[in-house]
Amino acid sequence: MKVTITGIKADIGSVGGHIKPSTRVLEAVKNYVEQHHKGVLIDFRISYTGDDISILCTHTQGICSEKVHKLAWDAFKAATEVAKDQGLYGAGQDLLKDAFAGNVRGLGPAVAEMEIEERPSEPFLFFAADKTDPGAYNLPLYLAFADPMYCSGLLLSPSMFKGFTFRIMDVAYTEADRIIDLNAPEDLYDIAALLRDTERFVVEAIFSRETGEQVVAASTTRLRNIAGKYTGKDDPIMIVRVQGNFPATGEVLAPFHLGHYVAGFMRGSHVGPLMPVTQNSTISFFDGPPIVSCAAYCVHEGRLTSPVDAFDHPFWEYVRHEVAKKAIEIRRQGFFGSAMLPYSELEYGGLVKKLEILEPRFVNRAHTQEV
Ligand code: F6R
Ligand code: MG
Ligand code: MG
Repeated sequence: MKVTITGIKADIGSVGGHIKPSTRVLEAVKNYVEQHHKGVLIDFRISYTGDDISILCTHTQGICSEKVHKLAWDAFKAATEVAKDQGLYGAGQDLLKDAFAGNVRGLGPAVAEMEIEERPSEPFLFFAADKTDPGAYNLPLYLAFADPMYCSGLLLSPSMFKGFTFRIMDVAYTEADRIIDLNAPEDLYDIAALLRDTERFVVEAIFSRETGEQVVAASTTRLRNIAGKYTGKDDPIMIVRVQGNFPATGEVLAPFHLGHYVAGFMRGSHVGPLMPVTQNSTISFFDGPPIVSCAAYCVHEGRLTSPVDAFDHPFWEYVRHEVAKKAIEIRRQGFFGSAMLPYSELEYGGLVKKLEILEPRFVNRAHTQEV
């Protein structure tokens, strides 16, 4: 059976700063989808990660379905009214346009979706990150799909010998979706050369070269490109099919033990380690650290099982301690050097203003003569 798995997430307001949505707002999203999904969706789950609410759903309408996207948009709109009523901070923050226009891409909410031919058993992972941006998934995806040091299946499972195709988007280009398909392993160094630049090049999808099937769908939204100014970080979601011809669940999870440094953290303007957290986790230290959660599901004829919380295991307790140490270590350096993002990536305009104010006080002196 052909099924589409769609994840749509938005920050529509939170309690006590940019920390987590209120119970009433979550209920409002859930109730709206519950009441309006008949004839549109087969199944759905609502969750939150930090201040972002995700609607994960299944249906047979294909990707970019107007009906599905409108349902999510309307649910977020309805819940925004509750957020306003409660005086939540940043109510409706990610709903950047007033009117729905066909699909939610380009309107603010992040989308990750793929249409699949369901396997007899179809396990998949749903990742949601907060206080970071889509480039946060570049390294874990590279390691899980292209590096046998992390993905032993590339050596041990013949159906993975041909490797995977990475579809990478240039998210700095705003005229159109600028994408390139590169094949691992032949194009490995080209893939690495692009993915190292996490602010510009982002993995949008990955395909099996053995079967042609899509394995990964990740959100690539850059809110700043839509709004033209800072409106919050882009907090990416991602769907990854696992097992069989694809990497095993544990191979996809493994790279997250690194707690690699990503863009985001306080004011979307710093560098911090990505901490794998349990589902429905909140935000704390320095508006962070950047977090990622992972819900594991099976889907059958579009019906979703209950989620298993993939980072809720004693192993990840140890990892979280290690990542907390990395977070403290880089924070000791405050705003200096690589602790704060480069000028072009700062999400607040304060430093631009400062330079404008200082401009008239600069003087041009002749080059000092060398002796
Ligand atoms: C980062 C984030 C927060 C805010 C910070 C200031 O993505 O959401 O770190 O940038 O709390 O928020 P405002 O400017 O809304 O007071
Ligand atoms: Mg967020
Ligand atoms: Mg936010």
